[in-house]
Amino acid sequence: MIKPNPFTPKSGLEPKVFMNRKDEIELFLERVSRGIRGSIDHFIINGEWGTGKTSLLRYFKLLAQERGNCVACYFLARELDERVTDMEINIHLTQSIVRNIPYDINSKRGNFFKYINGLGIQVLGTGFNISFDVPKERHVDSQIFLMDSLINIWKDISPRANLLVVLIDDVQNYTKVSRIFTTLKNILSDEKIIQETRILFVLSSTVQGWMPFMKENHPIGRFFIPRLELKNFDKRQTITHLSVTLYNNFNSSYTILCSLSDLVPGGAFSFR
Ligand SMILES: Nc1ncnc2c1ncn2[C@@H]1O[C@H](COP(=O)(O)OP(=O)(O)O)[C@@H](O)[C@H]1O
Ligand SMILES: [Mg+2]
Repeated sequence: MIKPNPFTPKSGLEPKVFMNRKDEIELFLERVSRGIRGSIDHFIINGEWGTGKTSLLRYFKLLAQERGNCVACYFLARELDERVTDMEINIHLTQSIVRNIPYDINSKRGNFFKYINGLGIQVLGTGFNISFDVPKERHVDSQIFLMDSLINIWKDISPRANLLVVLIDDVQNYTKVSRIFTTLKNILSDEKIIQETRILFVLSSTVQGWMPFMKENHPIGRFFIPRLELKNFDKRQTITHLSVTLYNNFNSSYTILCSLSDLVPGGAFSFR
């Protein structure tokens, strides 16, 4: 049940001991294996605040990278206001993917860079700080922009990997621009994307945030399946976690207090 801490020690953000999420991990690895073979099925993790969505998505990233033939990027959905344009939304998605891919695909010789340049879009910064400046007078169809960006990002990655995994955390932050999900669904089910890329999207959201798509046969709800709902760890798992955490950190009362603070109601653990 308990695995050694897979995360960067001392980052302060990750659990000290990662409790296994067996079913969720199995599903993810199965989707990755199928994705590598060219069959892509996107899905979503739902869970209340503190149930472990972020930890799980970050763990997925490590698992994907461990395979060697996968590239994974994780980012937090930024809260977007309803006034943002479709192009701004799609730039946010593209920028977030490019910034979080663990190597610089912004090389001047790369397909993505050439594509962006060809549109007259100025690339500011590099690597993790990259941003795009679209000239006002330039009309670029936002959906085509996102689709072609994904295709070109994939072209840059494909010599080194058989799959790109895009992990987007807290997509309830997109509630005010829920059209983003329709765009994503349209693009990801487009024949060209299916034929020419291997990109697997895994989202996370609060249950409340995903509610509008949970109505029976909702096209977006049906597209990101299964909808896995994270449950709190039960009493036995909570106590095991606590005892292992305390055992590993008995010399630091600060760490113990931090670990205990995970147990507040609403967190991933419970004593009942
Ligand atoms: N699988 C796990 N094993 C151990 N601790 C976990 C696990 N998942 C979450 N936690 C702990 O529970 C707390 C909440 O987790 P987090 O991933 O931030 O939840 P969410 O993103 O759903 O709000 C964090 O302190 C995290 O370290
Ligand atoms: Mg979170």
